[in-house]
Amino acid sequence: MTGLRETYPLYLANKAEQPNTDLVVTDKFTGQPATRVAMADAATIDRGIAAAVAAAEPMARMAAYERQAVLAHCVTRFTERQDELAHALCIEAGKPIRDSRGEVGRLIDTFRIAAEEAVRMTGEVQPLDISARAKGYQGMWKRVPIGPCSFVSPFNFPLNLAAHKIAPALAVGCPFVMKPASRTPLGAIIIGEVLAETDLPAGAFSILPAHREGADLFTTDPRLKLLSFTGSPDVGWDLKARAGKKKVVLELGGNAAVIIDRDADLDDAVERTVFGAFYQSGQSCIGVQRILVHADVYEEFRDRLVAKTRTLIAGNPAEESTFIGPMIDVKEATRLDRWISEARDAGATLLCGGGRQGAMLEATLLEGVPRSAKLNTEEAFGPVACISRFHSFDEALEAVNDSKFGLQAGIFTRDLFHMLKAWDVLDVGGVVINDVPSYRVDNMPYGGVKDSGLGREGVRFAMEDMTEIRNLVIRRRPQD
Ligand code: SIN
Repeated sequence: MTGLRETYPLYLANKAEQPNTDLVVTDKFTGQPATRVAMADAATIDRGIAAAVAAAEPMARMAAYERQAVLAHCVTRFTERQDELAHALCIEAGKPIRDSRGEVGRLIDTFRIAAEEAVRMTGEVQPLDISARAKGYQGMWKRVPIGPCSFVSPFNFPLNLAAHKIAPALAVGCPFVMKPASRTPLGAIIIGEVLAETDLPAGAFSILPAHREGADLFTTDPRLKLLSFTGSPDVGWDLKARAGKKKVVLELGGNAAVIIDRDADLDDAVERTVFGAFYQSGQSCIGVQRILVHADVYEEFRDRLVAKTRTLIAGNPAEESTFIGPMIDVKEATRLDRWISEARDAGATLLCGGGRQGAMLEATLLEGVPRSAKLNTEEAFGPVACISRFHSFDEALEAVNDSKFGLQAGIFTRDLFHMLKAWDVLDVGGVVINDVPSYRVDNMPYGGVKDSGLGREGVRFAMEDMTEIRNLVIRRRPQD
């Protein structure tokens, strides 16, 4: 008994359709089938794109208050359905129930922010008379929707990372087609169910689970004006190379670092670092993977961190007390297990964890991990973190930057000059002071540099990407 329905439809041009039940969604804790979902083939995706193209003009004509009303409806309905949403997340993603409820809260925030921003899209009046040749000229610009958008969302936040694409699109008036992650399609499907209750123009949205190999149109179809992808770096950069002329936004991975400075409040830093490294089994792009600790406090911090990590309760994500649930599948857990072994073979010391049963990997800490080990250089995306020591703050900053990724970094320090220097020199999308890099509120600009991505999400920032600036120049005739 999973509490889920036996089948879920896809959404094509705003309407539920059940052409098949080909996609089996498993309960990630038991590994058993939990429900079945309709899958789109290439012809269905093509119809979704054609419908989005047809909807572009009516969507662009919607008044701001009408777009706001659609988003406000979603806020109301998600609030009414929050238990059901959290339960679905817990089953399809194996996300501990407390984290699942947290994600539903963030989904509601994201739509609420979009409802507010929908009526705040402004432009600018710009005097152009900067030289004699422009005397009498005046400019002004506004934002117009970019047109039909293509969204590909990931498995780790099936609701809120879908919301970070859908809500800004509705706020600006862009129709869209979305491919949710095949392992966790239910979150996006339920969002579709709620959108279908509104009076959005026909074709405004299609939510189409599809196998990756059949889903090329989401990337290559020239009718789509923007591709927004959240997922792994390898896939993201490959999609960009094949996206043609469309604008591309990529929210990719990282190997986020946290610095524990000499003057950090260690109680607080231990508490937050454990959370940042192991919440939702480390399957977050901004999960703490590299922990850099000042030599003066290294032993004390390490021992307290290990002790606290050992207290984490692993098991059934549906239990209130569970902190660590399964990884998304056995293949991913096996991959990370192998990386741990490789690091140990190369000289790393296991401080705690390291055991695995199927997709359940223990919360694992290592020290002495060689710089070149995958656990340092690649994205672990699981409940594993490496701890190392530094002697000067500059050395710690260099270590954070010694990565092909650059999403967010966290610094526990009370030194204002260290804070400001970190903000200046860290090559990342965001610096978080006195908290872990894993901290995110849904209205802040969020995204990375280097291999971590292109562009920013965070409602207002995504809305900018989903619009074009359209300029207007007015010449006054000399006699006027
Ligand atoms: C991510 O994994 O990129 C998103 C993290 C978050 O939204 O908290």
